[in-house]
Amino acid sequence: MQTVHTISDLRAALGGAGRCAFVPTMGNLHDGHLALVRQAKAHGLPVVASIFVNRLQFAPHEDFDRYPRTLARDSELLAAQGCDLVFAPDEAQMYPVPQTYKLHPDPALADMLEGHFRPGFFVGVCTVVMKLFQCVQPALAVFGKKDYQQLMVIRHMVEQFALPIRIDAAETTRAADGLALSSRNGYLSAAERDEAVALSRALRELADRYRAGVATLAELESQAIAGLTARGWKPDYLTVRRRANLLPPPEGDNAPMVVLGAARIGATRLIDNLEF
Ligand code: PAF
Repeated sequence: MQTVHTISDLRAALGGAGRCAFVPTMGNLHDGHLALVRQAKAHGLPVVASIFVNRLQFAPHEDFDRYPRTLARDSELLAAQGCDLVFAPDEAQMYPVPQTYKLHPDPALADMLEGHFRPGFFVGVCTVVMKLFQCVQPALAVFGKKDYQQLMVIRHMVEQFALPIRIDAAETTRAADGLALSSRNGYLSAAERDEAVALSRALRELADRYRAGVATLAELESQAIAGLTARGWKPDYLTVRRRANLLPPPEGDNAPMVVLGAARIGATRLIDNLEF
Protein backbone atom coordinates (compact mmCIF):
# COMPACT_ATOMS: atom_id res chain seq x y z
CA MET A 1 0.00 0.00 0.00
CA GLN A 2 1.31 3.39 -1.00
CA THR A 3 0.79 6.56 1.07
CA VAL A 4 0.88 10.01 -0.46
CA HIS A 5 0.53 13.37 1.23
CA THR A 6 0.25 15.79 -1.69
CA ILE A 7 -2.30 16.25 -4.47
CA SER A 8 0.40 16.05 -7.14
CA ASP A 9 1.74 12.75 -5.79
CA LEU A 10 -1.82 11.45 -5.61
CA ARG A 11 -2.50 12.38 -9.24
CA ALA A 12 0.79 10.85 -10.34
CA ALA A 13 -0.04 7.62 -8.51
CA LEU A 14 -3.55 7.40 -9.97
CA GLY A 15 -2.70 8.33 -13.54
CA GLY A 16 -6.15 9.65 -14.50
CA ALA A 17 -9.82 9.94 -13.65
CA GLY A 18 -12.33 7.17 -12.99
CA ARG A 19 -9.80 4.51 -12.11
CA CYS A 20 -10.44 3.88 -8.42
CA ALA A 21 -12.99 3.37 -5.70
CA PHE A 22 -12.76 5.92 -2.91
CA VAL A 23 -13.41 5.85 0.83
CA PRO A 24 -13.12 9.30 2.43
CA THR A 25 -12.43 9.26 6.19
CA MET A 26 -11.18 11.44 8.99
CA GLY A 27 -9.02 8.59 10.29
CA ASN A 28 -9.10 7.02 13.76
CA LEU A 29 -10.49 4.03 11.91
CA HIS A 30 -12.74 1.32 13.32
CA ASP A 31 -14.43 -1.76 11.85
CA GLY A 32 -17.14 0.41 10.30
CA HIS A 33 -14.56 2.19 8.12
CA LEU A 34 -12.94 -1.12 7.24
CA ALA A 35 -16.33 -2.43 6.08
CA LEU A 36 -16.48 0.58 3.71
CA VAL A 37 -13.06 -0.38 2.35
CA ARG A 38 -14.17 -4.00 1.83
CA GLN A 39 -17.29 -2.79 0.02
CA ALA A 40 -15.16 -0.52 -2.19
CA LYS A 41 -12.77 -3.40 -2.86
CA ALA A 42 -15.62 -5.61 -4.09
CA HIS A 43 -15.92 -3.42 -7.20
CA GLY A 44 -12.58 -4.70 -8.45
CA LEU A 45 -10.97 -1.27 -8.74
CA PRO A 46 -7.93 -0.05 -6.82
CA VAL A 47 -9.13 1.43 -3.52
CA VAL A 48 -8.05 4.86 -2.31
CA ALA A 49 -8.79 5.95 1.27
CA SER A 50 -8.30 9.52 2.40
CA ILE A 51 -7.47 10.50 5.95
CA PHE A 52 -8.05 14.16 6.66
CA VAL A 53 -9.58 15.79 9.72
CA ASN A 54 -11.50 18.58 8.06
CA ARG A 55 -11.51 21.74 10.17
CA LEU A 56 -14.29 23.25 8.01
CA GLN A 57 -16.92 20.84 9.33
CA PHE A 58 -16.23 21.50 13.01
CA ALA A 59 -17.74 24.44 14.91
CA PRO A 60 -15.28 26.32 17.15
CA HIS A 61 -16.64 24.62 20.32
CA GLU A 62 -16.47 21.10 18.80
CA ASP A 63 -13.78 18.43 19.03
CA PHE A 64 -11.49 19.35 16.10
CA ASP A 65 -8.37 19.70 18.28
CA ARG A 66 -8.90 16.53 20.28
CA TYR A 67 -10.09 14.40 17.33
CA PRO A 68 -7.56 11.51 17.42
CA ARG A 69 -4.88 11.54 14.69
CA THR A 70 -3.72 7.91 14.39
CA LEU A 71 -2.17 7.66 10.92
CA ALA A 72 0.29 4.83 11.68
CA ARG A 73 -2.38 2.55 13.13
CA ASP A 74 -4.92 3.54 10.45
CA SER A 75 -2.38 2.69 7.74
CA GLU A 76 -1.82 -0.79 9.18
CA LEU A 77 -5.57 -1.42 9.30
CA LEU A 78 -6.08 -0.19 5.73
CA ALA A 79 -3.17 -2.27 4.40
CA ALA A 80 -4.65 -5.37 6.06
CA GLN A 81 -7.90 -4.79 4.11
CA GLY A 82 -6.04 -4.55 0.81
CA CYS A 83 -6.42 -0.78 0.44
CA ASP A 84 -4.11 0.29 -2.39
CA LEU A 85 -3.44 3.94 -1.71
CA VAL A 86 -3.82 6.28 1.26
CA PHE A 87 -4.14 10.01 0.65
CA ALA A 88 -3.22 11.74 3.91
CA PRO A 89 -2.84 15.46 3.19
CA ASP A 90 -2.14 18.02 5.89
CA GLU A 91 -4.08 21.26 6.23
CA ALA A 92 -1.52 23.23 4.22
CA GLN A 93 -2.08 20.81 1.34
CA MET A 94 -5.89 20.88 1.41
CA TYR A 95 -6.28 24.53 2.42
CA PRO A 96 -3.06 26.33 1.38
CA VAL A 97 -5.00 29.57 1.60
CA PRO A 98 -8.29 30.03 3.46
CA GLN A 99 -11.04 28.15 1.60
CA THR A 100 -13.21 31.13 0.61
CA TYR A 101 -15.13 29.24 -2.10
CA LYS A 102 -17.47 26.88 -0.28
CA LEU A 103 -20.22 24.56 -1.36
CA HIS A 104 -23.59 25.34 0.21
CA PRO A 105 -25.93 22.34 -0.03
CA ASP A 106 -29.67 22.71 -0.53
CA PRO A 107 -31.03 24.10 2.76
CA ALA A 108 -34.21 22.02 2.30
CA LEU A 109 -32.11 18.93 3.01
CA ALA A 110 -29.10 20.26 4.86
CA ASP A 111 -30.52 22.78 7.33
CA MET A 112 -32.60 20.28 9.32
CA LEU A 113 -31.49 17.64 11.86
CA GLU A 114 -27.64 17.65 11.91
CA GLY A 115 -27.52 20.90 9.96
CA HIS A 116 -29.86 22.54 12.47
CA PHE A 117 -27.85 21.45 15.51
CA ARG A 118 -24.45 21.84 13.81
CA PRO A 119 -24.80 24.96 11.63
CA GLY A 120 -22.21 24.98 8.86
CA PHE A 121 -21.48 21.26 9.22
CA PHE A 122 -22.73 20.28 5.77
CA VAL A 123 -21.07 23.28 4.12
CA GLY A 124 -17.80 21.94 5.54
CA VAL A 125 -18.56 18.36 4.53
CA CYS A 126 -19.65 19.22 0.98
CA THR A 127 -16.71 21.56 0.45
CA VAL A 128 -14.13 18.99 1.50
CA VAL A 129 -15.83 16.07 -0.26
CA MET A 130 -16.06 18.05 -3.50
CA LYS A 131 -12.39 18.97 -3.16
CA LEU A 132 -11.42 15.36 -2.38
CA PHE A 133 -13.47 14.21 -5.39
CA GLN A 134 -11.50 16.67 -7.58
CA CYS A 135 -8.23 15.31 -6.18
CA VAL A 136 -9.05 11.58 -6.36
CA GLN A 137 -11.49 11.61 -9.32
CA PRO A 138 -12.90 8.21 -8.37
CA ALA A 139 -15.35 6.11 -10.36
CA LEU A 140 -17.24 5.46 -7.15
CA ALA A 141 -17.17 6.43 -3.50
CA VAL A 142 -18.52 4.60 -0.48
CA PHE A 143 -20.30 6.42 2.39
CA GLY A 144 -21.80 4.84 5.50
CA LYS A 145 -25.50 4.97 6.35
CA LYS A 146 -24.46 5.75 9.93
CA ASP A 147 -24.22 9.38 8.70
CA TYR A 148 -27.57 9.09 6.97
CA GLN A 149 -28.18 12.75 6.22
CA GLN A 150 -24.57 13.19 5.06
CA LEU A 151 -25.05 10.32 2.60
CA MET A 152 -28.21 11.98 1.22
CA VAL A 153 -26.58 15.41 0.96
CA ILE A 154 -23.59 13.92 -0.89
CA ARG A 155 -25.89 12.04 -3.29
CA HIS A 156 -27.77 15.28 -4.07
CA MET A 157 -24.51 17.16 -4.55
CA VAL A 158 -23.27 14.52 -7.01
CA GLU A 159 -26.57 14.64 -8.91
CA GLN A 160 -26.76 18.43 -8.99
CA PHE A 161 -23.21 18.82 -10.29
CA ALA A 162 -23.48 15.79 -12.63
CA LEU A 163 -20.31 14.35 -11.14
CA PRO A 164 -19.38 11.06 -12.85
CA ILE A 165 -19.12 9.30 -9.50
CA ARG A 166 -21.34 6.50 -8.27
CA ILE A 167 -22.20 6.79 -4.56
CA ASP A 168 -22.44 3.45 -2.76
CA ALA A 169 -24.16 3.27 0.64
CA ALA A 170 -22.78 0.91 3.28
CA GLU A 171 -24.83 -0.48 6.16
CA THR A 172 -23.94 0.64 9.67
CA THR A 173 -21.53 -1.65 11.51
CA ARG A 174 -22.62 -2.29 15.11
CA ALA A 175 -21.00 -3.67 18.24
CA ALA A 176 -22.47 -6.91 19.65
CA ASP A 177 -24.89 -4.97 21.88
CA GLY A 178 -26.14 -2.85 18.93
CA LEU A 179 -24.13 0.36 19.44
CA ALA A 180 -23.26 1.89 16.07
CA LEU A 181 -19.48 2.04 15.65
CA SER A 182 -18.14 5.59 15.65
CA SER A 183 -14.76 7.18 16.20
CA ARG A 184 -16.42 9.25 18.93
CA ASN A 185 -17.24 6.09 20.94
CA GLY A 186 -13.58 6.28 21.97
CA TYR A 187 -14.43 9.36 24.08
CA LEU A 188 -16.87 7.36 26.27
CA SER A 189 -16.04 6.26 29.82
CA ALA A 190 -16.75 2.58 30.63
CA ALA A 191 -20.09 3.51 32.23
CA GLU A 192 -21.03 5.74 29.29
CA ARG A 193 -20.09 2.97 26.86
CA ASP A 194 -22.47 0.58 28.64
CA GLU A 195 -25.23 3.17 28.50
CA ALA A 196 -24.56 4.21 24.89
CA VAL A 197 -26.64 1.39 23.38
CA ALA A 198 -29.74 3.06 24.84
CA LEU A 199 -29.76 5.41 21.82
CA SER A 200 -30.26 2.66 19.23
CA ARG A 201 -32.78 0.95 21.54
CA ALA A 202 -34.77 4.18 21.85
CA LEU A 203 -34.77 4.53 18.06
CA ARG A 204 -35.96 0.93 17.60
CA GLU A 205 -38.74 1.50 20.13
CA LEU A 206 -39.79 4.76 18.48
CA ALA A 207 -39.95 3.03 15.08
CA ASP A 208 -42.01 0.14 16.49
CA ARG A 209 -44.41 2.47 18.29
CA TYR A 210 -44.80 4.58 15.14
CA ARG A 211 -45.72 1.52 13.06
CA ALA A 212 -48.08 0.32 15.83
CA GLY A 213 -49.75 3.76 15.74
CA VAL A 214 -50.01 4.00 19.52
CA ALA A 215 -49.95 7.83 19.59
CA THR A 216 -49.34 10.79 17.30
CA LEU A 217 -45.82 11.13 15.93
CA ALA A 218 -45.25 14.31 17.96
CA GLU A 219 -46.24 12.46 21.14
CA LEU A 220 -44.05 9.46 20.31
CA GLU A 221 -41.04 11.67 19.63
CA SER A 222 -41.50 13.63 22.88
CA GLN A 223 -41.83 10.36 24.82
CA ALA A 224 -38.64 9.00 23.23
CA ILE A 225 -36.77 12.20 24.08
CA ALA A 226 -38.15 12.16 27.65
CA GLY A 227 -37.09 8.52 28.05
CA LEU A 228 -33.47 9.21 27.11
CA THR A 229 -33.42 12.43 29.14
CA ALA A 230 -34.55 10.48 32.21
CA ARG A 231 -31.51 8.21 31.74
CA GLY A 232 -29.19 11.22 31.86
CA TRP A 233 -28.84 11.94 28.13
CA LYS A 234 -29.23 15.34 26.46
CA PRO A 235 -31.02 14.54 23.20
CA ASP A 236 -30.97 16.96 20.25
CA TYR A 237 -33.59 15.01 18.29
CA LEU A 238 -35.21 11.59 17.99
CA THR A 239 -37.48 11.69 14.99
CA VAL A 240 -39.20 9.65 12.30
CA ARG A 241 -38.68 10.91 8.76
CA ARG A 242 -39.51 9.78 5.24
CA ARG A 243 -36.49 8.10 3.71
CA ALA A 244 -37.07 9.87 0.38
CA ASN A 245 -36.49 13.43 1.62
CA LEU A 246 -36.04 13.34 5.42
CA LEU A 247 -39.26 15.32 5.90
CA PRO A 248 -41.71 14.42 8.66
CA PRO A 249 -44.31 11.94 7.38
CA PRO A 250 -47.94 13.02 7.11
CA GLU A 251 -50.28 11.34 9.62
CA GLY A 252 -50.69 7.60 8.88
CA ASP A 253 -47.99 7.56 6.17
CA ASN A 254 -46.69 4.07 5.39
CA ALA A 255 -43.81 5.03 3.07
CA PRO A 256 -40.28 3.76 3.82
CA MET A 257 -39.08 5.58 6.92
CA VAL A 258 -35.91 6.19 8.83
CA VAL A 259 -35.76 7.03 12.51
CA LEU A 260 -32.84 9.29 13.36
CA GLY A 261 -31.40 10.44 16.64
CA ALA A 262 -28.64 12.58 18.08
CA ALA A 263 -27.98 12.86 21.78
CA ARG A 264 -25.20 13.72 24.16
CA ILE A 265 -24.06 11.32 26.83
CA GLY A 266 -21.66 13.12 29.14
CA ALA A 267 -19.53 15.25 26.82
CA THR A 268 -19.93 12.99 23.80
CA ARG A 269 -22.51 13.53 21.08
CA LEU A 270 -23.62 10.32 19.35
CA ILE A 271 -25.84 9.90 16.30
CA ASP A 272 -27.60 6.83 14.96
CA ASN A 273 -30.49 5.85 12.70
CA LEU A 274 -32.49 2.83 11.60
CA GLU A 275 -34.42 2.34 8.40
CA PHE A 276 -37.81 0.74 8.82
O1 PAF B 1 -17.92 11.02 7.43
C1 PAF B 1 -16.78 11.51 7.58
O2 PAF B 1 -15.87 10.90 8.13
C2 PAF B 1 -16.51 12.92 7.06
O3 PAF B 1 -17.64 13.73 7.20
C3 PAF B 1 -15.98 12.94 5.63
C4 PAF B 1 -17.01 12.41 4.65
C5 PAF B 1 -14.70 12.13 5.53
C6 PAF B 1 -15.65 14.38 5.21
O4 PAF B 1 -14.68 14.94 6.04
